[in-house]
Amino acid sequence: MSSTVAEAPNQLTALLVGCGSIGKKHLQEILPKFYSVAVVDINEEALAWAKAEAERVRETGAWAAHVTTSTTLDDVVEYAPYDIATIANWGPDHVPTTRRLQSAGQKNFVVEKPLSDSIADARDILGEVERAGGKLWINLTRRFSGLPAGILRVAAEHKLGELVGVTVTGGARCIATNGIHYLDLATCLFGAEPESVTADLATQNINPRHESLAFYEGSVNYNYSGGRRFNCVFLNGSAVTENVRFYWRDAEGEMLPTGEFALRLRNPEEIAQYPAVTRTGYAQNEVFRGNLWLTEDGRTGMTALYDAVVSAATSSEHVEVVGSRTAEDLLAALHASELGQRLSLPVDDSKVDITKHWSIS
Ligand SMILES: NC(=O)c1ccc[n+]([C@@H]2O[C@H](COP(=O)([O-])OP(=O)(O)OC[C@H]3O[C@@H](n4cnc5c(N)ncnc54)[C@H](O)[C@@H]3O)[C@@H](O)[C@H]2O)c1
Repeated sequence: MSSTVAEAPNQLTALLVGCGSIGKKHLQEILPKFYSVAVVDINEEALAWAKAEAERVRETGAWAAHVTTSTTLDDVVEYAPYDIATIANWGPDHVPTTRRLQSAGQKNFVVEKPLSDSIADARDILGEVERAGGKLWINLTRRFSGLPAGILRVAAEHKLGELVGVTVTGGARCIATNGIHYLDLATCLFGAEPESVTADLATQNINPRHESLAFYEGSVNYNYSGGRRFNCVFLNGSAVTENVRFYWRDAEGEMLPTGEFALRLRNPEEIAQYPAVTRTGYAQNEVFRGNLWLTEDGRTGMTALYDAVVSAATSSEHVEVVGSRTAEDLLAALHASELGQRLSLPVDDSKVDITKHWSIS
């Protein structure tokens, strides 16, 4: 047990709504970086954990934010605005929670995915954040991790040229729950938003969170400028983890079961002999294998996210809303599948009923 009391890093205040499996990770990022945090959860055990976790951190001699706890938002909403409000309760509650806080004057948010279950709600929340001059980060963690920059760095070192596609194939992983992370990773790697989407999706009552929630299998196909593509196929009849591949003209990247990224090149002699792109060959010459999840300075995606939150709260820098297009582009795939049409992105609200709600989590 440490006898010294660590100094507060600042006077910043945070609110955390939902301290479940992902909420606990948010709290662990908030504790060292904020002066105080109000934690709201309907589950008393989750609240007890939050207090105990702060105590555990303090006992190491490190700073931990003052934690107050409550089982209802009613108790804490009057103290808005907080420097940041993190929304990590169940998916269908993200919109009512965010709206309630917005109407109490809260400006800055970290919201777990999915931001909303309709495109209209996503746009409304965003519009309100912008009107209030606030900030919004959606926790699509790969975006903040070392992966996008790391993959692009390794590709540049091997002079691979442009990334032409990202493909994901696997079992029951749900296009909405997990596919969204890969869509966002592809969007980061391409450095551009998708221009259109087609999809063929189906759902069965297998969602482990609740049987009323969908669990999408099937395929989504996103087109980016220059013919670049992101394709994801999930099969609800299979319990096999997904395979994630990245394609360049003569090279292939893969996420390995170890969490490492591997890069393999084709044989240059074969390419010289048959240069046409249609004369394909296996990419078997492994030139890189390494874990790229941490940023170059060794931080996890969530640590980098909260560093950005603190930096934005303590300076006047302008922050773009982060991840909102992915939130609505994912919902656009559900519309495209239902309509049996290719949809241009962002979705045109005169062609699609953007107020439709989808049972995603
Ligand atoms: N970004 C990621 O990588 C990632 C990973 C896991 C989960 N998620 C998302 O985070 C959200 C939460 O998922 P989870 O796995 O932590 O779920 P969970 O069930 O473990 O946690 C949800 C918590 O919210 C609490 N809660 C429920 N209703 C509440 C209310 N009205 N007010 C306050 N608290 C309430 C529950 O008691 C629980 O502690 C989901 O939207 C999920 O999709 C994102």
